[in-house]
Amino acid sequence: MEFLLFFFGFLLLLHLFKNVLLSSKRLPPSPWGLPLIGHLHLIGRMPHHSLQKLSRKFGEIMYLKLGMIPAIVISSPDLAKQMFKTGDTTFSFRPYLLVGEHSGYNFKGIALANGDHWKSMRKICTTELFTVKRIDSFLWVRMKELSYLVSSLAQACNDQSIVDVREHLTVLTFNVQTRILMSKRFFGENLSDDELAEARVFKELIDESVQFAFQFHISEFVPSWLKWIDWNIPQAKRVAAKQDEFLQKIMDEHKAKKSSPTKDFMDILLEHRGDDQEVVKATLMEILAAGTDTSACTVEWALLELLNNPEIMKKAQEELDVVVGGGRTVLESDFPKLTYLEAMIKETFRIHPPTPLLVPRMSTQACALGQSFHIPKGATTIVNYYSIGRDPEVWENPAKFWPERFLGLAIDVKGHNFELIPFGAGRRICPGMSLGLKTVYLTLGNLLHGFDWHRLPGKNYGVDETFGAVTWPKSSLQVRVTRRLANTNTQ
Ligand code: HEM
Repeated sequence: MEFLLFFFGFLLLLHLFKNVLLSSKRLPPSPWGLPLIGHLHLIGRMPHHSLQKLSRKFGEIMYLKLGMIPAIVISSPDLAKQMFKTGDTTFSFRPYLLVGEHSGYNFKGIALANGDHWKSMRKICTTELFTVKRIDSFLWVRMKELSYLVSSLAQACNDQSIVDVREHLTVLTFNVQTRILMSKRFFGENLSDDELAEARVFKELIDESVQFAFQFHISEFVPSWLKWIDWNIPQAKRVAAKQDEFLQKIMDEHKAKKSSPTKDFMDILLEHRGDDQEVVKATLMEILAAGTDTSACTVEWALLELLNNPEIMKKAQEELDVVVGGGRTVLESDFPKLTYLEAMIKETFRIHPPTPLLVPRMSTQACALGQSFHIPKGATTIVNYYSIGRDPEVWENPAKFWPERFLGLAIDVKGHNFELIPFGAGRRICPGMSLGLKTVYLTLGNLLHGFDWHRLPGKNYGVDETFGAVTWPKSSLQVRVTRRLANTNTQ
């Protein structure tokens, strides 16, 4: 009995001592929290809005407790620079995600992985998968898929039918991705019923996986030794098993096919990591999930803003008329001359980032940020890029969609200018940035060059959002289109 009393007394003292020691280090400002849940109750359905509101009160760096996990929220370009540049090594880990353990085959992919495994996958990505040469070798895929989209819009012009923009854009980006990843086209005409059914299952699988990832999972808010209490683990296992069955089938079919002269990503991953098929499956799934909706939602937001700002639409189309002319479609070689289109895309990334909180990182050691604020080891670190994009201290008239602000301004989206980092920055910057940018430019350029876009009478074209893996406009964009060019064809 005496021993037990002594033992618990010792634990209590240790706890008090740790707290005193911690409080002597200055943590960033923090709202009042509750026992166990910390500040989770302050985060609503739109976490980037809730965090923006809190940062207006508590400042550009905040300390929160997400359940039992310490978290730092950064909302200024200067602090983002400190974190991504000076502290790049310290903040190069991702925090724990339940789906990474189950759908990610115990963190064997790239986006949720850490340490040596992440380093080796990142190396394959940068030296093999996302090189300029490889991305250029798939230019024909981007052009071909665009030509299908243009044809179906031309058909909608003839039929005068309503166009669901999101549906068309996700088919385009999904097909571009799957053709690059596994030389397979899942959506479109001339496909058999079986093939279309397979496509639906695949897209549903990805959507289910991604939606599940964004649900509340208690294991993400407790220390690692308590993760077993998560009541969602059985569901996580079911989602992962369904996904595995499908991916294995695709991989077996792919291996059985005779090889083509252009290597796809699956060929390359099998060449490098064929010894562990789980690595290949996890990486393919993560690249597909990361690369499909991000590009599609950027184009949808840009078109929505242009429908609300017809004078900007007109300027963009006039530039396309001068640079490209009426006789042909927009090519990637036109991009350097399309400065207004570029400014418009930057403005879309500023005001409607696909991932407003980027992708959280985790500190691997204690360090200092800002005015010597103490950042504990293991803190989930979130950059609220949405808040930076709408900060009046950073941007003049931030609520206004105004591409002109970028004309003549030497700011790009490639991770050097910390007020505009839709692809993140530092060593974990989006490896698909170049492919994503090319897809966005080419699609938006051709859609504006080939068609006039019309609002449907009585329809709301508000800029409300939904939060998820990417932040889409709340309602999918519905419009009518009419032809601008007599020869609307990209083939
Ligand atoms: C408009 C398009 C896109 C946007 C805005 C975007 C944004 C992002 C962001 C913010 C991150 C986190 C970066 C960080 O932690 O600093 C990221 C990571 C990633 N993205 Fe993208 N992305 C886009 C397109 C793509 C495409 C097309 C692909 C692949 C085909 C892709 C693959 C990835 C992967 C694999 C990661 C994880 C990298 C790592 O953890 O090392 N993304 N992306």
